Amino acid sequence: MPPQSRKILVTSALPYVNGHPHMGHMVEYIQTDIWVRFQKLRGNSCIYVCASDAHGTPIMLKARELGISPEELTETNSKEFVSAFEDFDVDFDNYHTTHSPENEALTIEMYEALRATGDIYTKTIEQAYDEKEGMFLPDRFVKGTCPRCKTEDQYGDACENCGATYTPADLIDPVSVLSGTTPVKRESEHYFFRLSEYGPRLRDWIAEATLDKNVIAKLEEWFEAGLQDWDISRDAPYFGFRIPGTEDKYFYVWLDAPVGYPASFRHLCDRRDDLDFDEYWRPGHDTELYHFIGKDIMYFHTLFWPAVLQGAGFRTPTSVFAHGFLTVNGQKMSKSRGTFIKARTYLDNLDPSHLRYYYAAKLGPTIEDIDLNLEDFTARVNSDLVGKLVNIASRCAGFINKRFDGQLGQALPEPKLFAEYADAAQTIARHFEAREYSKAVRLIMSLADKANRYIDEHKPWAMIKDDSRLDEVQAVCTQGLNMFRSLMVYLAPVIPAVAGDAREFLGEEAWTWQSASDPLLGSTINKFKPLLTRVEPHQVDRMVEQSKETAGEPDTVADDNTISIDDFMKVDLRIARITDASPVEGADKLLELKLDVGDSSRTVFAGIKAAYEPDSLVGRHVIVVANLAPRKMRFGVSEGMVLAAGPGGEDIFLLSPDDGAEPGMRVK
Ligand code: 2FM
Ligand code: ZN
Repeated sequence: MPPQSRKILVTSALPYVNGHPHMGHMVEYIQTDIWVRFQKLRGNSCIYVCASDAHGTPIMLKARELGISPEELTETNSKEFVSAFEDFDVDFDNYHTTHSPENEALTIEMYEALRATGDIYTKTIEQAYDEKEGMFLPDRFVKGTCPRCKTEDQYGDACENCGATYTPADLIDPVSVLSGTTPVKRESEHYFFRLSEYGPRLRDWIAEATLDKNVIAKLEEWFEAGLQDWDISRDAPYFGFRIPGTEDKYFYVWLDAPVGYPASFRHLCDRRDDLDFDEYWRPGHDTELYHFIGKDIMYFHTLFWPAVLQGAGFRTPTSVFAHGFLTVNGQKMSKSRGTFIKARTYLDNLDPSHLRYYYAAKLGPTIEDIDLNLEDFTARVNSDLVGKLVNIASRCAGFINKRFDGQLGQALPEPKLFAEYADAAQTIARHFEAREYSKAVRLIMSLADKANRYIDEHKPWAMIKDDSRLDEVQAVCTQGLNMFRSLMVYLAPVIPAVAGDAREFLGEEAWTWQSASDPLLGSTINKFKPLLTRVEPHQVDRMVEQSKETAGEPDTVADDNTISIDDFMKVDLRIARITDASPVEGADKLLELKLDVGDSSRTVFAGIKAAYEPDSLVGRHVIVVANLAPRKMRFGVSEGMVLAAGPGGEDIFLLSPDDGAEPGMRVK
């Protein structure tokens, strides 16, 4: 390694392993892997570590639901992530888990250090508690009506309709997502980290961390709003590390998750004599540390994490690189459209190099979202990789193989032209370094166009017919293959598998970044085999179809909205007869219905005014959810819910007064 080489440690965000890896995940791992491979190719020491993020309530509950231990769940799911990473050529130096002895020791070490400086304190807080389940409820496990816009069925932290943020206690009619019961408020002692004291130190860090301007803008907003102390504890039951000196308090998953970065590195150091943990994690060393993350977790990585590191006597990140979200065909990934594509479904149908190339062609250094447009993906991969790049080699290799025993010429016929390819090394390196991958790819492809034009102009397929011009053919093809080779060296971080095959075809053992500028002359190349196949539209269609097919599977991804059969059985559906129906003053859509449910009568407010004259409803039968908890509405208490079918608006259908239906009859 050259003496000036840098010592770099790189991380990607630790995937939360309660679901399956999908195309959105892959953006970050591919982005990071390209950067790491680029650094290695340049001769820098670059270590890439990651781990599964294994703790917290969602994993604990999912394991419980599946009847397995959280350890078992995270191990199984981690394997799926690891195999997807391998198959997409994401090459970690170490992949670990946050549920590890290294992580526990480091988390406790940092916590003790923060306690020693007085940055940890306890405070009693009130929280939603599910008495039936015997546990405190995270915000996302409470649902209810938004206090601001009154939209029903909103999570306890924010309204998806109006964007209001609040606590579960602010929700109207809150219910526990776990048991369906109304949560009570209960007090508990929590541990807090004094983030509010870290403003000036964080500002110092931000000034030197060369963050993207959008990240800085976001940070300014947060500073403006004021830094709040951070609640770092959770009560049992919880899957995580117990806080020393307590019986039933655990570190919040977001405290020990980033500690997974140094913990994974330590796990690697324990197996490698050449790495020194302190050199990378204590202040005062000449090493660099970079975290690649998604824009949704900037707060954790640009405020909490650097502050924890500072307070605990560790070094801070050199920079944090945030990327945007992935959209597919211009929209959020969707199961019904078949665009919520799991990594494995992609791999079952398409070549990972295609995706790596496409993501690189789209990626820049900002938090702007990137779009995987499936038509554009097909066209671009076919045109750039197959039509331009591989084409250079396939147009030249045959002549060298067949007519010259695989031997390249001793000199380049156009050294000046080659110099353009060699000189591009600097600009392309600058683009990769700055994560301007789309710019690097554009430049590489413009050079591929130029190489193809060169071959078009010299027409080796015509010259080969003239025995007196054989030397020229060898020279032109040597020129062509050298241009191809330089471009492959530049693309090696992006499509390492293809570049590896190209290198073997050219009969070389290894490449460095410098190889692109030193021509390959006089040596023997191997037989040319196609390096890449085209993307066929039917492969893409099949992938989308398969993604649709798996959409209904329960228990697949974190945001699965299905309910279990047990949940369904809890719903008490009964026939009711409408005994009275009247408009509700001040409500455009509601009718007040009086229902005979057999053993009792109920008042229900139903949003069916657009479809029915109140009088026409009297005597009709409806299906009612009889065990819905009474809900206080602006106009009175609603004691159930009537079920209606149809597209809505004017076309809402209730049951007709069929013979045989008796109020109070159970429907299931
Ligand atoms: O957002 C997530 O999926 C988290 N599991 C990322 C954690 S990154 C680091 F802090 F561990
Ligand atoms: Zn709202």
